[in-house]
Amino acid sequence: MPEPGAGIVLVGMPGSGKSTVGRLVAERLGRRFVDTDELFADLHGISVPDFLRERGEPAFRAAESEAVARACGMRGAVIGAGGGAVLDPLNRWALWHHGVVAWLDAPPEQLVERLNADGVARPTFQPYGAGRLAAVRSERASAYRAADLVVDASREAVRIAAEVVARATRPRARVLLDAEFERHHPIGPRKARLLMGLDLEPYPNGVAVVDRRLPRALVDRLSTRACMEVAGGERSKRMRRLERILEWLAEQRIERDEPLLAVGGGTVGDLAGTAAALFARGLPLVQVPTTWLAQADSAIGGKVAVDLSHAKNAVGAFWPPVEVRSDVGALRSLPPRLRRDGVAESVKSALIGDAALWQLIETRGRAALRADEAARYAIIERSARLKLAVCDRDPFETGERRSLNLGHTVGHALEVESGYRLRHGSAVALGLRAAAAIAGGRGADPMLPERLDALLADLGFGLRQAFDEPAVRRAMLTDKKRRAGRQRWILPMQFGETLEVDDVTDDELGRALRTIAA
Ligand SMILES: NC(=O)c1ccc[n+]([C@@H]2O[C@H](COP(=O)([O-])OP(=O)(O)OC[C@H]3O[C@@H](n4cnc5c(N)ncnc54)[C@H](O)[C@@H]3O)[C@@H](O)[C@H]2O)c1
Ligand SMILES: [Zn+2]
Repeated sequence: MPEPGAGIVLVGMPGSGKSTVGRLVAERLGRRFVDTDELFADLHGISVPDFLRERGEPAFRAAESEAVARACGMRGAVIGAGGGAVLDPLNRWALWHHGVVAWLDAPPEQLVERLNADGVARPTFQPYGAGRLAAVRSERASAYRAADLVVDASREAVRIAAEVVARATRPRARVLLDAEFERHHPIGPRKARLLMGLDLEPYPNGVAVVDRRLPRALVDRLSTRACMEVAGGERSKRMRRLERILEWLAEQRIERDEPLLAVGGGTVGDLAGTAAALFARGLPLVQVPTTWLAQADSAIGGKVAVDLSHAKNAVGAFWPPVEVRSDVGALRSLPPRLRRDGVAESVKSALIGDAALWQLIETRGRAALRADEAARYAIIERSARLKLAVCDRDPFETGERRSLNLGHTVGHALEVESGYRLRHGSAVALGLRAAAAIAGGRGADPMLPERLDALLADLGFGLRQAFDEPAVRRAMLTDKKRRAGRQRWILPMQFGETLEVDDVTDDELGRALRTIAA
């Protein structure tokens, strides 16, 4: 039975019986039932199908969020959530915090039968077909799977309702996303998992390499059989540290299928990840990222590396994790300047391919850096999903994946020039401005550089930096993305669209560097 006050949320495909079951559950528990689609119709004076027909899906999704927020404001209510509402991480955050979430799941053939029988039009799905419904279900599966309960919805409504009521106890952990992805590696499992949420259960086994600067509470929660502590930070990403970890793994008598957890920011992820790639020719790697940057970016995509004295990330491998477990709660102890480091990567992701993420950062990015955990989660999830999708289409960086380098050509050079005193996020922010300046001279959206500056300033980034121009130009010569002596550039042309070029002139570069020079 649910705790008093805690609500119940039913999610699932159309035809899964959310409204019928929801009413029965509410009746049994003496609660109110609210269907977000009906609430939507009341709020907007137009039914969901008519709104969809007239205004299209993106407009609908924006308006739907308001209905979701209102429903979640009704304490203890049983909510039937519109089928696709769960795609938006902010909706999911609100719904999952409302109470126990149950996924009503039934085979597509049965959904088709029920939908044809009930006579309500659903333009997103018509004409109804099992194939179409199955495709939509798999698109939404990473959200549905994050529910607390999976309930077989192929039965009669009263039986489904009885099961929901009996099993509705709320776990402490809020899993908000449970996505499966391809590892794209011939060795090890084909599929991997991305788990995101709040107060997640620790990974159940394995050994861990842990950042020693993490708060004790985070480390004490691990349930690995052995733990090696290392100092996080760029200076740790070196061959001698790597060797120490490898020796330690040998002492622990690690067997080939025992997972190695990398618990910390991007530096520990890279260092322990490289160890996992090398030890016994490959241990299963579990990334447990604890910084914004690592959750939004570095733990995703399967690249691991350590530095040489004059070349960052010069020695490494493609060694995709078998699982990434990202707990947004871990970021509470992260100092604001390190959160800011991470949001620079999220701004980059937004420019590359997620205009909605751009809007989200514009409206709530600053709050996300402080106390708005819902926005923080949503920004990180959207960034992580963007990177996952790009890496899935181009796992070995032969094309599209290079777009993730946006802002990093100049950014890395500034880091090197500063002797790594300039933080990565600040360097990327400057790099984004430089790339936008070049794009501006080549027909990019004229609003882009201006809005980028306004956003970066709002997030607290410096827009200019003092540096030695010849040193920055020299550092650019060691960029790994150069080909046949030509520098490749990723230019932001629109919000959510980039272009790769390799003919940026000396003059263009000079002007771009002057844009960011103090
Ligand atoms: N492999 C990739 O694809 C990839 C992509 C991007 C960046 N990277 C790498 O990631 C690294 C940067 O990652 P980062 O910014 O996470 O740096 P980091 O690992 O140095 O972490 C930053 C600081 O935060 C501390 N810290 C970590 N988690 C904390 C927590 N929860 N609370 C308090 N303090 C915490 C660390 O001890 C460290 O001092 C760079 O080395 C970069 O090259 C790799
Ligand atoms: Zn980066």
